[in-house]
Amino acid sequence: VTSTFSPASSAGVAFHRLIVDSAHPLTDDAVCLGFRVPESVTSTFTFTAGQHVIVRRAGAGGEVRRTYSICSSPNSGELQIGVRRIEGGALSTWLTEEVRIGDAIEVSAPIGKFGSELSDPLTRNIGLVAIGSGITPLLSLARTHLESTPDSTVTLVFGNRTNASTMFAEAVAALKDTYMSRFHVVHVLTRESRGIELLNGRIDSEHMSALLDMLLPHREVDHWFLCGPIEAVLGAQDALEASGVDTDLIHRELFYAEPTRRSPHVATSGTTVEVVLNGRTTVLYEEDLSGSILDGVMAQRTDAPFSCRNGVCGTCKARCVSGEVAMDSTWALDDAEIRDGVLLTCQATPVSENVRVEFL
Ligand SMILES: Cc1cc2nc3c(=O)[nH]c(=O)nc-3n(C[C@H](O)[C@H](O)[C@H](O)COP(=O)(O)OP(=O)(O)OC[C@H]3O[C@@H](n4cnc5c(N)ncnc54)[C@H](O)[C@@H]3O)c2cc1C
Ligand code: FES
Repeated sequence: VTSTFSPASSAGVAFHRLIVDSAHPLTDDAVCLGFRVPESVTSTFTFTAGQHVIVRRAGAGGEVRRTYSICSSPNSGELQIGVRRIEGGALSTWLTEEVRIGDAIEVSAPIGKFGSELSDPLTRNIGLVAIGSGITPLLSLARTHLESTPDSTVTLVFGNRTNASTMFAEAVAALKDTYMSRFHVVHVLTRESRGIELLNGRIDSEHMSALLDMLLPHREVDHWFLCGPIEAVLGAQDALEASGVDTDLIHRELFYAEPTRRSPHVATSGTTVEVVLNGRTTVLYEEDLSGSILDGVMAQRTDAPFSCRNGVCGTCKARCVSGEVAMDSTWALDDAEIRDGVLLTCQATPVSENVRVEFL
């Protein structure tokens, strides 16, 4: 490994200690946490609807980082996240069971571009498909769009197990009360009867197609935003595409994907990867590249940006400016980014001898 300074700049992840100033249970296993943002970092924590933050917790076994979507609207002056506990989950168990008002938590500045299409003045009608905790970024989009764009409509298809397990049920109902004619909600439950067949069952491609045909004015929707487990999101995407919606108008955010099992990478003899991060270039050699490019950088430097290390959050994005890489999964990239040479360093290994990547 060699490192040199160069003028190119790119970002790591900076964390700030924020005090928890609200904690509302949402269901038996989910909580909405609000953070107090000191004036000195107000501009750092300015966000747009759909963005997320990274929460970091240092522990005896090392640090844990996880990503959480912001559920509040930028207009509200609040920074809030909604967390559902995952069985055996390191960070979600802590956030839902142990964290209390007054605790200081390490939170990154908001990042991500999910929902950026809301800033386009031509975006009038949006369609949202949320499954379970996938409501969090979509609630922010719904709130923001209804508040800021007077003649807009928002249609939400919201899949859950039961009413009692539905996160933000009250917030969704309150939006419906306020924006009766512009906000349409279709609740679909898997484990509790809603009396109409269409409103029960898993949201897969077939179910979504039936919902589109019977309930939604989907041809008037300018952009679709999908968030939830991978199968449901891909199923809803298929149904939308099959009904003629342009792929570029469908945007998705995934919270989790099963990790890709890969065997150790064997870099060709003589391979080098130049990595530009925070204005410093680090060169990785064959022996540094038995894992992903991110693994190689993390073994040498403490400022590499990452969260999930599993191809879903997008924190580790970089651009490949020369050479070629292969990626195990690309969930956090859209087609335009892939065409533009953007890569997920946590998923990328070099396939040509000399590669240069610049963190975004
Ligand atoms: C862009 C983005 C936004 C996110 N926003 C939110 C949000 O708003 N609210 C929220 O609650 N979560 C959100 N997540 C998920 C969150 O980052 C964590 O993955 C989640 O809280 C689990 O972390 P953990 O440390 O508790 O579990 P871990 O310790 O990471 O995992 C425990 C076990 O459960 C498995 N596992 C982890 N997550 C899941 C899952 N979702 N489904 C099935 N198995 C799983 C793991 O493989 C492991 O075996 C988001 C993720 C991303 C990438
Ligand atoms: S660290 Fe999450 S996509 Fe790479």
